[in-house]
Amino acid sequence: MGVKNIVVFASGSGSNFQAIIDAVEANSIDARITGLITNNSNIQAIDRASNAGIPSRVILPSQYSDSTAFGLAILDVLEEWKPDLIVLAGYMIKVPTNVTRRYRGRIINIHPALLPKYGGKGYYGERVHRAVLEAGEQESGCTVHYVDEDYDRGPIIDQKKVPVLPGDTPQTLAERVLHEEHQLLPQVIQQLLSKL
Ligand code: GAR
Repeated sequence: MGVKNIVVFASGSGSNFQAIIDAVEANSIDARITGLITNNSNIQAIDRASNAGIPSRVILPSQYSDSTAFGLAILDVLEEWKPDLIVLAGYMIKVPTNVTRRYRGRIINIHPALLPKYGGKGYYGERVHRAVLEAGEQESGCTVHYVDEDYDRGPIIDQKKVPVLPGDTPQTLAERVLHEEHQLLPQVIQQLLSKL
């Protein structure tokens, strides 16, 4: 049983990615991060990777003829980085089916709402929080779940709740939820790795 490998997918600021990096450095996650895959060359997550000495690869769906070809490009990189666990940490596009099939049970996502509510196509980032506020919900939160072929519909592993407060904007709610994401995601990762 060697050290376990984590590969992270991110599309934006990468604050969840940073929470994983910090947890690995603090030994509260017993693994190493072997790489970061992104679909955007101009994001803070890439700087976070290079500051931590983690290789990153930009794989743009627009450069491939279809989702299968895009997936094959991802699978090539994964072959090299040999993940025991793949973590989608703010990855804003759908993972191709050939990837989710190959890594079934070993690929998880964090979503900024209490799934099964406010998930699926079109529900990502700030749009999720806007929808929660527009619906007048009293609470929201975050969910870590397994990723399968169905967007945001894989089995739920764990959730954390936060209250919706009077006067909340999508930004203030996002901040409150994000704070919980940064606790929940590393916890779940360690819990899953310890069972592998
Ligand atoms: C996080 O809130 C994450 O849950 C959400 O995007 C944000 C990324 O922030 N993910 C989704 O909406 C996926 N459907 P980060 O880049 O700072 O981690």
